[in-house]
Amino acid sequence: MAAAGSAVGLGNIWGFPTQTASNGGAAFVLVYLVLAFCLAYPAFMAELLIGRYGQANAVTSLQKISRNLFHQRFAFVVGFGGIVCAALILSFYGILAGWMMSYAVEPFSRLLGLQATADWVVNQSLARNLLFCALFMFLTIFIIRRGVEEGIEKWSKRLMPLLIVLLIILISYVITLEGAQEGLNAYLNPDFSRVLEPNLLISALGQAFFSLSLGTSVMVIYGSYISKKENLVTLGAQVTLIDVSIAFLAGLLIIPSMYVAQAQGVAIFAADGSLISGSSLVFTVLPSLFNSMGSIGLYVGLAFFILMSVAALTSSISMLEGPVSYAVERHQVERKKVTTYIGIGIFILSAIIIANISFMLDFVAVLATQYGQPIIAMLCCIFVGWIWFRNDILTELKQGNDMVEHSLFWKIWPWYTKFVCPTAIAIVFWHSL
Ligand code: PFF
Repeated sequence: MAAAGSAVGLGNIWGFPTQTASNGGAAFVLVYLVLAFCLAYPAFMAELLIGRYGQANAVTSLQKISRNLFHQRFAFVVGFGGIVCAALILSFYGILAGWMMSYAVEPFSRLLGLQATADWVVNQSLARNLLFCALFMFLTIFIIRRGVEEGIEKWSKRLMPLLIVLLIILISYVITLEGAQEGLNAYLNPDFSRVLEPNLLISALGQAFFSLSLGTSVMVIYGSYISKKENLVTLGAQVTLIDVSIAFLAGLLIIPSMYVAQAQGVAIFAADGSLISGSSLVFTVLPSLFNSMGSIGLYVGLAFFILMSVAALTSSISMLEGPVSYAVERHQVERKKVTTYIGIGIFILSAIIIANISFMLDFVAVLATQYGQPIIAMLCCIFVGWIWFRNDILTELKQGNDMVEHSLFWKIWPWYTKFVCPTAIAIVFWHSL
């Protein structure tokens, strides 16, 4: 559940619909689904397996499967690269999560009659961004200081079903509204001529890897926390399925909502005729949807943005856990202290991004998610496919799944990770360049 908590977050509800809107709708959805199951899931299994075998942070775990000094150095570069990637992601993720929190404070303030506060919290200002980002980072640091296992699983277990139920209720409402049909069509009816567009492909790849938190050392660490009694193959499949389903549902809510908003007079097309996208999408369309629900919309908006903030929190803690567990295990520093220091360091980076938000937010996001994550995930696949002994992989997989040797998974996955994953990721890159 903690791994699912890491996977499900702003990437599903904010990233996926935003990317879908800016990459032409259904064609993106199709490519995303294919890449999520055919590339991200096998890579996800590779990371979980490395972690459970190594029982340690990404660098140490990768070094345990290394066979010589060169591999060991390579392991350091890959593992540490993932940790840096996680820190970079957290630096911009905290800003967006702060916005989610501010949108939860807005209906709350309105319920209390504090209209001025309500207006202030949804107004794009330096002070608002800094305040809410700091608040979010504080919560992340607070939880990580105590350790992952305790609180997080409980939170994820209760809140994830709630999020799914709320999404389904909202979708049922939206599709009855005027304009929704057009939105459903844009979301579900792909224009096949677009599926090989370089930009679409690289965005879908980045989005699939971002959504499963790959290439960041996070799933290696979470793998190391999974008991040897668990069946990793089904566990990984379940997390992937939950993650993809929530993204799909979020798209089913947000894309039709855009067209409903348009029918109500909200501008959803940019000057050049393309759909508005970028960070403003969710924050324009959803509040207008909640407003259209009358007074109940206030409560629905409150519930939605609280759930989103919590979903963001179960992801951000996984990002901070990466660097923290590395520092604790490799340098024997005290967990609480190092959590605070690293957390503050990342917040300083967030503050720099906030001060230059117009260009730095996108830059850091693209660098870390479209380039960093797929490259590091690809290198992890290379580790599993080309460096790790096949027998050792099987022994590890057999723990919690003694029939794995005869499964379809074992017949396909090893060579798939060895040849197909690295090649396919490389091709998408080459194509997009
Ligand atoms: N998977 C998270 C989401 O979809 O919101 C984002 C994420 C979490 C990315 C953890 C990277 C990471 F290490």
